[in-house]
Amino acid sequence: MERLQKVIAHAGVASRRKAEELIGQGRVKVNGKVVRELGTKVGPNDKIEVDEVPVESEAPVYFMLYKPRGVISAANDDKGRKTVVDFFPHVEERIYPIGRLDYDTSGLLLLTNDGEFANQLMHPKFEVDKVYVAKIKGIPSREKIRQLQRGVMLEDGKTAPARAKVLSIDKSKQTAIVELTIHEGKNRQVRRMFDAIGHSVLKLKRERYGPLDLRGLNAGEARELTAHEVKQLYSMSQTGK
Ligand code: URA
Repeated sequence: MERLQKVIAHAGVASRRKAEELIGQGRVKVNGKVVRELGTKVGPNDKIEVDEVPVESEAPVYFMLYKPRGVISAANDDKGRKTVVDFFPHVEERIYPIGRLDYDTSGLLLLTNDGEFANQLMHPKFEVDKVYVAKIKGIPSREKIRQLQRGVMLEDGKTAPARAKVLSIDKSKQTAIVELTIHEGKNRQVRRMFDAIGHSVLKLKRERYGPLDLRGLNAGEARELTAHEVKQLYSMSQTGK
């Protein structure tokens, strides 16, 4: 079951806020009856009409974007900055990102108009593995890497066990490249984990998301997921891999 305004928005009839206005104005019917309650929940079998016109739900679509740095992970930005949705000028469906990458983080980001799919992938219990590659300040000791693996204390709790591997070090510049695999999605988690071990992140990229990687894409490019990839993500998020 989903909130009525969300279903109307996802059907492409209006933005979420406009849908709320339509409901408030008594222009929306569910199963033939005017509904003015904003929190009303509707299911796939409910018949929704706006101004007597049936609302058809959009066919679900799924994309991956190689997000460049300097782009906001949101459907729109009130300051007018470039968003990840701006990379899809020809997509008519109302897509939005599944989770987010920071403004300064690049890498693999999924977008969809399928709310159930997005919720499933972001559910804390079932989040799939995500692989990040970070360039960090300083050269971490083995013990510091072990701390990342065991979990570090952040202000919102301890991170779950993770995989961490030093890929290379640059002695003259005093930097290192570290691969970190986590399945949680706390806000700015990777940056905060490295801060917690005393090595701040200079550059961050998400290389993989569950079974998906960025092969074949350059920064700023996107592609549709195959039906197989969507199924894989669904089943992985159910088993929590
Ligand atoms: N962790 C971060 O710190 N930033 C991101 O963008 C993603 C994960």
